[in-house]
Order: sequence, then structure tokens, then C-alpha cells
Amino acid sequence: MNLKIVLIVMLAFIAVVIAGTNSQLSSAQTPEKESKTQPKEVVLDKDSQSDKYGEVPFNHENHSGKTYSPDGKTVLTCVECHHTDQPPADLKPPLKTSERAVVLTAASLAAADAKPVKTCRACHLQAGDDSATTPTVTYADKPAPTKLTNEIAYHTNCNLCHDKAIAARPVLKGKVPGSNDCFPCHKPVS
Ligand code: HEC
Ligand code: HEC
Ligand code: HEC
Ligand code: HEC
Repeated sequence: MNLKIVLIVMLAFIAVVIAGTNSQLSSAQTPEKESKTQPKEVVLDKDSQSDKYGEVPFNHENHSGKTYSPDGKTVLTCVECHHTDQPPADLKPPLKTSERAVVLTAASLAAADAKPVKTCRACHLQAGDDSATTPTVTYADKPAPTKLTNEIAYHTNCNLCHDKAIAARPVLKGKVPGSNDCFPCHKPVS
């Protein structure tokens, strides 16, 4: 009898703990999906599903304001990364999706009627997330379509540019993470 009560109390306690953890997890997994404020420093992949590769710090202020082109001579355009924020006529294959009639710039975003900017994760979902359709793309040199999860989309965006920058300016080796420098671009999961 006593044992039964102890068991019931224990199970109830465990249920409360599990429910609490779940609600914390689900709020961490729903980052703001769009905004008109440019972030300065962000931490990507806070909700990484990997048991090794954790958070990725990203300095948006540097990447959008300083001369971060591979050759170090020009400031990047916003649409280098926010590729759906430009008119259809500006898109080059394999890109074809346009969600903005005027090209995104700091000035065009400041207009009162400008739409907010979506995060990459609004479309490029984590592996296993079927809450929406993860985009695919077909490259000329690859017959099978590539599913653009967050992992593939961000890696393609960040790594192609960094590898080009290191090739163009070897002094950047060690300062910029190349595609094989999983760490320190990712913090290890502790
Ligand atoms: C090197 C790539 C890159 C460039 C260049 C860039 N951004 Fe971003 N931007 C990002 C990433 C990555 C995020 C998403 C952060 C996240 O997922 O939390 C972001 C987020 C944003 C956000 C917030 C979106 C949200 O919902 O939180 C705004 C607004 C924004 N960028 C505007 C701009 C503007 C305007 C420019 C040009 C002046 C620009 N960005 C240039 C990569 C870039
Ligand atoms: C330039 C920085 C950078 C480098 C280098 C890099 N990654 Fe990533 N990685 C990212 C970003 C950014 C994301 C997605 C962030 C997000 O969705 O918020 C990501 C996502 C991932 C994910 C998916 C995690 C999840 O569940 O969301 C895995 C796994 C991963 N990377 C492994 C690796 C491995 C292995 C390497 C080395 C071969 C590597 N990464 C190199 C930046 C990097
Ligand atoms: C509104 C949805 C949406 C948003 C937001 C979005 N993407 Fe995409 N992305 C797509 C679609 C759809 C494709 C497939 C090509 C197409 O239809 O334009 C794609 C293709 C890509 C590709 C492959 C194209 C190539 O040149 O290899 C990369 C890399 C990529 N996205 C990175 C990003 C990054 C980084 C961000 C955030 C800064 C982002 N995407 C934001 C929908 C989106
Ligand atoms: C189109 C080019 C380009 C893209 C896209 C890009 N980067 Fe960079 N990144 C650079 C350059 C260039 C530097 C080094 C600039 C210098 O030190 O002169 C750099 C530097 C960095 C550094 C070193 C610290 C700093 O802020 O200077 C980190 C970390 C980094 N990038 C992470 C990322 C991540 C994560 C992504 C993808 C979400 C990304 N970058 C996308 C060009 C790019």
C-alpha cells in the first residue's frame, strides 16, 4: 500500500520534470522566424541535434558591413546570403525563388512598408523536421536533387565563401574557418 503511494508520487514527479523539459525544448526550437532588425552577433544552431557539433557564433555586423568579399575588397550584398530577398529578374540559376520585389539593402529594409527578413531556418529545416517542405535544388554537375536542410544550406553558404577567401588570401588561414574546420566554427557539445 505505502509502496504504491510512493510509486505514484514518484511517477507524478517524473511526469512533471519531463513536461517541463519538453516545453523548454520546444521554445528553444522556435527562434523568431522573421525580423526587420539586423542582428549584430548571433549564435546559430543553439538547438543542434548533433551530439558533437554545437553552437556557431556568427557576426552579422562584420559580414554585412565590412569588406568581407573573398578578395577583401568589397562589402557583401545582403542578397549574397538572403537570396530570396531580390526580384525574379536578378536571380541566377540554381536560384529561382523570389519573395521580395525590390532588392534587399539596409535602405530598402528601412522603408516603412518593407517586409521583414526571414531567417534561413524559416525555409531550411533541420533533418527530420517535416513541419514544412524543405527546399531541394538540382545542380548541373549532380544528377540527383540535393535536399537543402539547415546543415547543407548554411555549410554551402558559409564554407564556399570562406574557402575562396582563404585561397585568395592565405593570411586568413587560422582566422577564418575553412570547410574542414568543424571546430572552432562549431563549439563542441558539452
Ligand atoms: C554573410 C551572410 C549575410 C549577409 C551578407 C547578410 N546577412 Fe542578414 N542574416 C544572415 C544570417 C545567417 C541571419 C540569420 C540569423 C539567424 O538565423 O538567427 C541573418 C539575419 C538577418 C536579419 C534578422 C532576421 C530574423 O528573423 O532574425 C535581418 C533583418 C537581416 N539579416 C538583414 C540583412 C541586411 C539588410 C543585410 C545587408 C545590409 C544582410 N542581412 C546581410 C546572413 C547574412
Ligand atoms: C563556417 C562555419 C561552419 C563550419 C566550418 C562547419 N559548420 Fe556545421 N554548421 C554551421 C552552421 C551555421 C550550421 C546551421 C546552423 C543553424 O541551423 O542554426 C551547421 C550545421 C551543422 C550540423 C547540423 C546540426 C543540427 O542539427 O542543426 C552538423 C551535424 C554540422 N554542422 C556538422 C559539421 C561538421 C562535421 C563540420 C566539419 C566537416 C562542420 N559542420 C563545419 C557552420 C559550420
Ligand atoms: C523563403 C525561403 C528561403 C529562405 C528564407 C532562405 N532560403 Fe535558401 N533556398 C530556398 C529555396 C526554395 C532554394 C532552392 C533554390 C530556389 O528555389 O531559389 C534555396 C537554396 C539555397 C542554397 C543553394 C543554392 C546554391 O547556390 O547552391 C543555399 C546555399 C541557401 N539556399 C542558403 C540560404 C541561406 C544562408 C539563407 C539565409 C541567409 C537562406 N538560404 C534563406 C529557400 C529559402
Ligand atoms: C560571401 C562570403 C562569406 C560568407 C557567405 C560568410 N562569410 Fe564568414 N567570413 C568571410 C570573410 C572574408 C571573413 C574574414 C574577413 C577578415 O578577417 O578579413 C569571414 C570571417 C568569419 C569568421 C571569423 C570572425 C569574424 O567575424 O571575422 C567567422 C567565425 C565566420 N566568418 C563565420 C561565418 C558563418 C557561420 C557563415 C555562414 C552563416 C559565414 N561566415 C558566411 C566571408 C564570408
